[in-house]
Amino acid sequence: MSGIKIRGTGKGVPAGVITNADLEGLVDTTDAWITSRTGIQLRRRCDGQSLTDIAVQAGRQALTRSGVTPEDIGVCIVATLTPDTLVPSAACCLQRELGLPEDTLCFDLNAACTGFLYALHTMECLLAKSPRKCGLVVGAERLTRVTDWTDRSTCILFGDGAGAAVAEWREDFPSICAVLGCRGDQELLRLAGPGAPEPCYIQMEGRKVFKFAVEVVPLCIDQVLAKAGKTVEDVDFFVFHQANARIIDLVVKKYHIPEEKYYKNLARFGNTSAASIPLVLSELEEQGKVGPGSRVLMVGFGGGLTWGGAYVEFA
Ligand SMILES: CC(C)(COP(=O)(O)OP(=O)(O)OC[C@H]1O[C@@H](n2cnc3c(N)ncnc32)[C@H](O)[C@@H]1OP(=O)(O)O)[C@@H](O)C(=O)NCCC(=O)NCCS
Repeated sequence: MSGIKIRGTGKGVPAGVITNADLEGLVDTTDAWITSRTGIQLRRRCDGQSLTDIAVQAGRQALTRSGVTPEDIGVCIVATLTPDTLVPSAACCLQRELGLPEDTLCFDLNAACTGFLYALHTMECLLAKSPRKCGLVVGAERLTRVTDWTDRSTCILFGDGAGAAVAEWREDFPSICAVLGCRGDQELLRLAGPGAPEPCYIQMEGRKVFKFAVEVVPLCIDQVLAKAGKTVEDVDFFVFHQANARIIDLVVKKYHIPEEKYYKNLARFGNTSAASIPLVLSELEEQGKVGPGSRVLMVGFGGGLTWGGAYVEFA
């Protein structure tokens, strides 16, 4: 037995707000349509803040809450598809801003909305070999930079934000039992990079992604529970990627998950991709809903296509 537990979490919330009423002024949509079809009412936007700024805010809070100092960190991974610059990576920027030791392994990871779970699994593997047994995992996005504000099928969904978790690896901790997957697909969800002939905006086949999500989320739950040897009842809290309230509603109904065991904050944040799961974790810790001993099952899905689940305990 060896693995990681979460010691503490944090969030970085941008100052700007985009309401459904703001979007009514941009595209042919209504507050009623957005609320009923997605559950989203507000999203945050970095106004005068960089991705690094909100990632630092989240990382610093996670360090403080976990009682871990920057000198204890051996690995820092930022899951993002919207770093301020490709080089230096967002993780390298965090090294400087948080004062992490110069021999900290720092890099960015892109698995779209599943990025935080890919990063958490990668963290568990790397900490096993690291001389320092604590790691910082951040999910941070500035999706408003890559949103097409003339496309009503996507611009209503996405927002900016950051979430972070400090993980500690120990020989006597259980593994997080991650299940991760990928199916290369250019059609359903796409974001071109700099220099591409097409514009650098998120393009999506919403209805098909919805269908993919409602198929893959239960698959992840089943596989993680089987791998961890747990049942739905053994889990204290379910944390789902916040993409659409209807996806979460369908899944909790299927598994008879009671209201007090899951959480939705997408009304206030929209879909923040890699930041969405750690943002939820951070708010749960803030509200005392998770803490030492809590057993959490997280599920994410997104572009790539990617998907994943992980069972994790809080230290
Ligand atoms: C994008 C999404 C909200 C669209 O909701 P939907 O119920 O599937 O809506 P549809 O795409 O079927 O469109 C239904 C109608 O609403 C219209 N519509 C689409 N966006 C609209 C908007 N913002 N306002 C008003 N009408 C809109 C469509 O044009 C369509 O009109 P039509 O019937 O006349 O052709 C939904 O498919 C979704 O959330 N998909 C998953 C997206 C996701 O999770 N992405 C991130 C993965 S990490």
